[in-house]
Amino acid sequence: MSNVFYRAVNKKLMEVDYGKGIYLYDTDGNKYIDGSSGAAVSNLGHAHPVVLDAMMKQASKVAFSHLSRWTSRPIQELADLVDDLAPGDLSKLYLVSGGSEATESALKMARQYYVERDGQSSKYRIISRWKSFHGNTIGSLSMTGDGRRKKYTPLLLNFPHIAPAYCYRCPFDKTPENCDVDCAQDLERCIKMEGAEYVAGFISEPVGGAACGAIVPHQNYSKIVRQICDQYDILMIDDEVMAGFGRTGSMFAIDDFGVVPDLICAAKGMSAGYSPLGAVIASQKIYDTFKNGSGVFVHGHTYGGNPLSAAVSLSVINVLVKDKIVENSRTVGAYLMAQMQEKLLPFSFVGDVRGKGLMIGVEIVKDKATKEPYPVAKGMAARITQSLVKHGVIVYPGTGNADGVNGDQFLVTPPLIITKDQADELVTKMVAGFTEFSKTI
Ligand SMILES: Cc1ncc(COP(=O)(O)O)c(C=O)c1O
Repeated sequence: MSNVFYRAVNKKLMEVDYGKGIYLYDTDGNKYIDGSSGAAVSNLGHAHPVVLDAMMKQASKVAFSHLSRWTSRPIQELADLVDDLAPGDLSKLYLVSGGSEATESALKMARQYYVERDGQSSKYRIISRWKSFHGNTIGSLSMTGDGRRKKYTPLLLNFPHIAPAYCYRCPFDKTPENCDVDCAQDLERCIKMEGAEYVAGFISEPVGGAACGAIVPHQNYSKIVRQICDQYDILMIDDEVMAGFGRTGSMFAIDDFGVVPDLICAAKGMSAGYSPLGAVIASQKIYDTFKNGSGVFVHGHTYGGNPLSAAVSLSVINVLVKDKIVENSRTVGAYLMAQMQEKLLPFSFVGDVRGKGLMIGVEIVKDKATKEPYPVAKGMAARITQSLVKHGVIVYPGTGNADGVNGDQFLVTPPLIITKDQADELVTKMVAGFTEFSKTI
């Protein structure tokens, strides 16, 4: 019996002993491919010597200092490095300790931006999409469009959601070749319905993650969103908590869509699991509005901007750049996707394999032709995951894709350092797990 209050108090968990590269080992000595990098976090794999060294060096100098009084070299160097890598005029780094804190901070930053700019402002609502995940705190969950909201609905803010950007199950019954990107146009409809004077921002994941399994929006999606945001004076918030820092084969996923957002939220891969860290990267325009206004963003978390996490993140991003890890994510990602499409799509229950770089999703269906999902009670995502664990692979399952309740998928997001040979090993193990699983349905 343990006194840990786990997320799922009745679930038996594996006990991790240690990790090395893309592998995790349990306390019984079993070896697993960390095929999901935890939750798309451990992008440099486990026990990376360069990061461990940076961590030790900083911890022995100073691990914590509070941002109310102290700045530090690591946070300044990190902000300069992020400025070099971020698109357009996104140059100002606001540091927090995780993804939900990042999106929550972006929400408040968007609201305060309009107050600073206009004095009294009625703009406060953030529009988002269904089939999205932006975090579990009340503000971030209010923006989330996913089943994780349901038990907390009475607590949530009155924020509207638009149609998902979901080509495999297009809410407008179109195909990508034959559509006007109606899912992006839906933003304009929503703004007009709500009244632009009440809307401060639109937040979206450039490639959908935990709530949908690596859905890549139409190539023109972000451009249309950018135009609509400009037209109605609304901030475009790009949630790259999962996609950012190399996961999709670019430093930021939005880079591939040719637009510059106003705010980027980042976390996960930014410190690659070696220390909790999140951030909002703000445009010069937003920063200047605060600077020329009250000068104070009325927000902050105790651990935000601690030197230890900043030094870790600095070394993680330096490794990403120096060792060309983002390029590896793109090339090995394309290879892994092709292999998964070739070897997994033939299974009767695999409807779609999609994604970008090393952010790959597998959607499970009962009927490939109609895309009918299995009923949620069948627990397909959890059962397939379990079957893969038996074959030494960890993936990240989710449900609700078809209608908010039914529809299973899982994410394959291995560490970005994965080699082609290791991608082959991953696919071979997945095929073995699927073959065994197919006998049980
Ligand atoms: C896109 C996105 N935003 C926000 C979050 C929340 O991040 P955290 O779990 O670090 O609070 C996540 C986590 O999965 C995410 O994928």
